[in-house]
Amino acid sequence: MKIIMLGAPGAGKGTQAKQIADKYGIPHISTGDIFRANIKNGTELGKKAKEYMDQGALVPDELTCDLVMDRIAQDDAKNGFVLDGFPRTIPQAEALTAALEKIGQKMDFAIDVDVPDENIVNRMSGRRACLNCGATYHIVSIPPKQEGICDRCGSEIVLRDDDKPETVQKRLSVYHEQTQPLIEYYQKQGILQSVDGTVPMEEVFRSIVAILGE
Ligand code: AP5
Repeated sequence: MKIIMLGAPGAGKGTQAKQIADKYGIPHISTGDIFRANIKNGTELGKKAKEYMDQGALVPDELTCDLVMDRIAQDDAKNGFVLDGFPRTIPQAEALTAALEKIGQKMDFAIDVDVPDENIVNRMSGRRACLNCGATYHIVSIPPKQEGICDRCGSEIVLRDDDKPETVQKRLSVYHEQTQPLIEYYQKQGILQSVDGTVPMEEVFRSIVAILGE
């Protein structure tokens, strides 16, 4: 099963993608997590990506597409994968469609997690992320057991640099300009499904399972 998660920054794509990956036994591939791991490890890719991410801009397509194509070609993605944060532009979507066509495959589902902009800024200021293992928390709705510490790996959890309110506004406008057109792109491919992302996360997940099947 090959799934794309669509939605504004903070809509809950990552939260849902992790659960989908666990339930269906497929890898969760998050371009944001890949970039953040590269930033943490001080790689060349990380240095380049950080310049864009800190400003709420998108990392250029040429740095992003090859990285994803290499990742989905790995053995653990043979039976499917859930893409979180990719594609994010029409050229990225076209590159993905073309790469899959070459091997006689196509995406099965594009799931849009729909949350209005008003809800987003509030969610992002409360989010805390583990830069070591990618786990996410929310100071009110999903606090860690011990304040400031990741339940999963014991590392410190932090407010992401790009979750400051002014950067979130910029990310939202980039989303509307460059990523939202993908909704129509996947509607035309006949694989778009939309879920209400404003309800509690367990309910969002139930709606997604109803679409993907048990
Ligand atoms: P990325 O890491 O992909 O960020 P994003 O798309 O902006 O998405 P987020 O991770 O911020 O949010 P999410 O939708 O996953 O929400 P989450 O589940 O965490 O990208 C970061 C940057 O990297 C980009 O700005 C760009 O620069 C670069 N980049 C990445 N991919 C790229 C690409 N393909 N091309 C170019 N550049 C790229 O949830 C948010 C919060 O809400 C959490 O605290 C969570 O606990 C809470 N929450 C979740 N669901 C609910 C719910 N139902 N009710 C209440 N709270 C909820």
